[in-house]
Amino acid sequence: MDTFDCIATKLDVREFSLEKVSDEVKSKVLEAARMTGTGLNTQHWRFIIVEEAENIKRLAQDSISGKWTSGANFAVIILTDPEHNFHMIDAGRVAQNMQLAAWNFGVTSGLFTGLRENELRRDFNIPKSLNPTVILGFGYPARKLVGRKNRQPLESLVHRERFKE
Ligand SMILES: Cc1cc2nc3c(=O)[nH]c(=O)nc-3n(C[C@H](O)[C@H](O)[C@H](O)COP(=O)(O)O)c2cc1C
Repeated sequence: MDTFDCIATKLDVREFSLEKVSDEVKSKVLEAARMTGTGLNTQHWRFIIVEEAENIKRLAQDSISGKWTSGANFAVIILTDPEHNFHMIDAGRVAQNMQLAAWNFGVTSGLFTGLRENELRRDFNIPKSLNPTVILGFGYPARKLVGRKNRQPLESLVHRERFKE
């Protein structure tokens, strides 16, 4: 898929079909993560891929704003090192690349950031040194996506040369 089309058509989806995502697609998603740049090329992040139904369920229970993850085919917990002041930027970049890599194969995804940290750390053995920053849920969409992005027009977002009030 053309890169722009991939970005323009990708919606954050929270309802998935039961169709399984192949190992090949999952590998591409993880490889896209690995290929993403980090501040100072620190590569401080780690990724927990969650595939077993029981663990997906546990992940959804450990969320505050991601209960929908229970219907995902697989999920990825993105861990970043908060010692780096740019770690949230790194998390955002890698999340987006994984989502776009999946969408290239028709696999959609959503993300959540609201989580029950203690429970999540316990259930997924997350070390103290790393922060569970973003969690992605992936799967084929439950239905044909007809939604349109709700976005502001460029005129209200872009300033030329200087910010204008
Ligand atoms: C930093 C960030 C945090 C988000 N947190 C959540 C979340 O906790 N739960 C959730 O369901 N969606 C979450 N989202 C998804 C947004 O709601 C979604 O990107 C936005 O509504 C646009 O969706 P669309 O691309 O499908 O139009 C988050 C997105 C971002 C970028």
